[in-house]
Amino acid sequence: MNEFYQKDIISVKDLEKPQFEKIFAATDRIIQMDPNERRELGRGKTLGYLFFEPSTRTTLSFQAAMALIGGTSIGISDVSLSSTKKGESLADTLRMMSIYSDILALRHSLDGSSRFAAEISSKPVINAGSGTEEHPTQAIQDLYTIKKEKNKIDGLKIGIIGDLKYGRTVYSLLYALANYDVDIRLISPESLKIRSDSIYEIQKKLSLKESTNLEEYIDELDVIYVTRIQKERFPDEEEYQKVRGSYKIGLDVIQKMKENAIIMHPLPRIDEISTDVDNTPQAKYFKQAEYGKFTRAALLGLILNQNGF
Ligand code: CP
Repeated sequence: MNEFYQKDIISVKDLEKPQFEKIFAATDRIIQMDPNERRELGRGKTLGYLFFEPSTRTTLSFQAAMALIGGTSIGISDVSLSSTKKGESLADTLRMMSIYSDILALRHSLDGSSRFAAEISSKPVINAGSGTEEHPTQAIQDLYTIKKEKNKIDGLKIGIIGDLKYGRTVYSLLYALANYDVDIRLISPESLKIRSDSIYEIQKKLSLKESTNLEEYIDELDVIYVTRIQKERFPDEEEYQKVRGSYKIGLDVIQKMKENAIIMHPLPRIDEISTDVDNTPQAKYFKQAEYGKFTRAALLGLILNQNGF
């Protein structure tokens, strides 16, 4: 029996190392599979996506992933054109989507929105980003990227840089990394430090050090995971202005990195990685976005097929 069949993917905390490894193995199979065989996995199935916040990669990669396994996608990515605008509740919108589709992907600005959706929906729900809380499918693609590009996860020193307070990808990534033997360096402005209450449960499992100074750790990191300062989540624009542009990864920073270190970013980037860096061997963020299509296809295939693949 495939343990992912009809399962909701709400939080990385619901997954452990064996589950991650199964998703990575399924992703490898998806990439290598005969296209006709791959299209059988989603044949006749519909993904319903509901995006109450802007997105490029997550919406597109979910649609591309569903197409890859032979299914179709329907969805709302501009809620101002949906009946939400007339006052329809989130619960009723979710009920409608679960009538019309076989699996749902939800992005919403509220923490807890996906857990709520899973209670309402008669079909499995995938959290495609909930408030500042979590983005589990991003963490799956992030770990898969590390595994592919560094050939391992255990034993690495990983620096997470930027907005550690509001960036939801950071939390899902840390919850996922807590299953591995890694050294973590958290580098952020003082006002954007990690929310210690959110990592309370995993703190004992992780070897963590914090700093505001990237220079302190740059030459010892194997993975540099850069994040955007999340302007839209600041309650006060003035506070954002104080920290904007705090870290910039340019060719000068690459000179200080270990030669075989990699740079990742969940994207979108604003100015925290210079475009000069894009063509360096260290830049893996576009590859990371590409892996997202395959990890999501694997996850959709596992959730939709009782016997797996
Ligand atoms: N990484 C990510 O979630 O990107 P989008 O906001 O464009 O979906």
